[in-house]
Amino acid sequence: MTATQAPLPRITLIATGGTIAGACEDALQQQGYRAGALAIDHLLKQVPGLATVADIHAEQLFAIDSASIEYSHWQQLAERLKQLLADPGVHGAVVLHGTDTLEETAYVLHLTVPSAKPIVLTGAMRPATAISADGPMNLYHAVTAAAHPDCRGLGALVVFGDTLLAARGMQKCDSVPDAFGNGKYGRLGLIKGRAVFLYQRPVRAPGDFQVPATVPNVALLYGHVGLDPEMILQVGRHCDGLVFAGVGNGNLHPAWQRSLTELAARGVCIVRTSRVANGTTVHNGDIDDDRAGFISADNLPPVQARVLLMLALSKTRDPRVIQQLFDMY
Ligand code: SIN
Repeated sequence: MTATQAPLPRITLIATGGTIAGACEDALQQQGYRAGALAIDHLLKQVPGLATVADIHAEQLFAIDSASIEYSHWQQLAERLKQLLADPGVHGAVVLHGTDTLEETAYVLHLTVPSAKPIVLTGAMRPATAISADGPMNLYHAVTAAAHPDCRGLGALVVFGDTLLAARGMQKCDSVPDAFGNGKYGRLGLIKGRAVFLYQRPVRAPGDFQVPATVPNVALLYGHVGLDPEMILQVGRHCDGLVFAGVGNGNLHPAWQRSLTELAARGVCIVRTSRVANGTTVHNGDIDDDRAGFISADNLPPVQARVLLMLALSKTRDPRVIQQLFDMY
């Protein structure tokens, strides 16, 4: 660095495993590889020029397939990010994560790590040993976004396939390298090389929820033709909260509604979502939620509604207060 050059932004990078760190012997193999097999130092060497974008401090927190993510991993990840981002010298963070549960972890971090500094998650659909692996460019773009001033104050972000997405509402919606999207709600921007193009800002605030020591038991059920209402009661008996992805506008067969109302009366927090890809539930729309004691999730995808309910239940069990949290986040 010469005397006139500004120092590079400091980016903290946390590796957790996934296909981005996946390895197998055959470069054409896209199944049956070992997710999380390669260490972060190995992955960084695959991205030429990264050291000219940011001063990177990397650590390997886990090395797992994201199907194995547990609540305790979320606790560790959120705590570590809070510690690292509290350092005034750190500009932002990147989290490398398996794609299979990335939408849940991204929303957990959005709700539990309050920081104006960018927190950018990414992964890959092809293992690191594959021809045309997508991980190196995703990693490069994620670091670019985390270091970019335009990405401050947007909450947790996901960078994948040149696309910048808000954590809320984002979903894995395909099994090809362009795997993530936010349905018809769209992307925040694009990343091309070292350039970030921001076109929209999320309107829902990030949260400052604690990740409590013990996790409430929250289940997720999908409505489908032939779903036995007794099954709903059986699942609900073991839960503090239940997210129910109804049909259409979160609609319910009358027998499902009776089971859910019974559970709500017994103190189980019932959140009504929609199983439709871009679907919404309108509070007191087709269903009288207030009368039944239900919470409605607006357009939050069912797995993210489950995350929010889990965190909300650590603050309160009052459905009216939880409804306010769903309206806010
Ligand atoms: C995983 O989620 O860890 C494996 C699959 C992937 O990263 O694409």
